[in-house]
Parts: sequence; C-alpha cells; structure tokens
Amino acid sequence: MCADLDSVAADNTANIINQQGGKAEALTLDVANEDAVKSAIQDTATAFGSLDVIFNNAGIGGGNDWHKTISVNLSGVYYGLHHGAVYMAENGGGAIINTSSLAGLVGVAGPPGVRPVAEIGPGPGAYVAAKHGVVGLTRQYAIMFGAHGVRVNAIAPVISKQR
Ligand SMILES: NC(=O)c1ccc[n+]([C@@H]2O[C@H](COP(=O)([O-])OP(=O)(O)OC[C@H]3O[C@@H](n4cnc5c(N)ncnc54)[C@H](O)[C@@H]3O)[C@@H](O)[C@H]2O)c1
Repeated sequence: MCADLDSVAADNTANIINQQGGKAEALTLDVANEDAVKSAIQDTATAFGSLDVIFNNAGIGGGNDWHKTISVNLSGVYYGLHHGAVYMAENGGGAIINTSSLAGLVGVAGPPGVRPVAEIGPGPGAYVAAKHGVVGLTRQYAIMFGAHGVRVNAIAPVISKQR
C-alpha cells in the first residue's frame, strides 16, 4: 500500500510496483491525521490479508513552521508506529522502519558563515527536534514491542546532494 499526501505520487509508485510483477495499491493519506492513519492500517490489512511491514517515511523539510514540521515529521511517525505496532502485536508480529536523519543524531550546521540573528527561525530546530524524537520513539517502541514480535528500527540518511 503506497500511502502519500500526494495522490499522483502514490499512484505512480503503485504502478511501478505492479508493472514489475508486485501487487500494490495507492492510498491518499495525511500522516498528521491520526484517525486517517489508523484507518489506513486497517484498510491495508484488509486489502492484502495481513500487514507485516510499515515504513514511516513521509516527511517535510525546508519549512519554517514549528507546528507543521512537528506534526508531520514527529506526530506522523508516532501515529504509524503506535497504531502499527499495536496492530502487528495483536496479529502475528511484523517490522516497522522509521525514517530519521543525520539530523536525528546531531545538530546541523547551515551554510558557512555567521547567520544574522534576525534570519534564524524555527525551521532547523523543528526538523532536528522531530528527527531526534523519531530516534527516541524507535528506541522506546523497540523495547516495548520486541517481546510481542514487532521489530522497530530507524534509518538516518544524510543530506543528498540534490537538496
Ligand atoms: N533527501 C534527504 O536528503 C534526506 C535526508 C535525511 C532524511 N530524509 C528523510 O527521508 C524521508 C523522505 O524524504 P525525501 O527526501 O524522499 O523527500 P520527498 O519530498 O521526495 O518525499 C517525501 C514524501 O512525503 C510525502 N508527504 C509529505 N507530507 C506528507 C503528509 N503529511 N502525509 C503523507 N505524506 C506526506 C510527500 O508527498 C513526498 O512524497 C523524509 O522523512 C525526510 O525527512 C531525507
């Protein structure tokens, strides 16, 4: 189940999987909407007969809005992680992967040079706080759900050259 706020992107990804012999469907989903995430987990399990793996990868970067960044990058991961782990624990186990970032492990330097104070907004702090939060959630849920057959891990990509 390819779930994304961008329905065209979700469709395209599902089409690629289907063209290569896999079986995929697309779902338009805002991960910042807890009820919608819960429904997506149930709908996916119904559509495919089971739910074995969740990849909590959706994220935004580059914005300067504290609440939006936290709601997508931290709360969005929490909703998929919590409701997914509960579902899997009650239905035979599974694995969950959360996307953090190098910015989930260290603070990040901007471009070289001293940035004027007036230009410093909430964006970098929100992104770094959210990605550090994803690391903490991953550690905690791995401890809480490991004994219930649910593995929880995170990946921490470094910034790509394209960004
Ligand atoms: N590209 C990098 O350099 C880099 C580095 C470290 C971590 N990351 C992380 O990797 C993940 C993927 O990033 P990417 O570089 O592929 O970005 P991307 O913008 O190509 O992909 C992010 C996807 O998330 C979707 N999305 C955004 N808000 C959403 C929401 N509220 N609900 C559902 N879907 C939503 C977007 O539509 C998009 O398809 C993110 O969590 C990002 O923070 C990226």
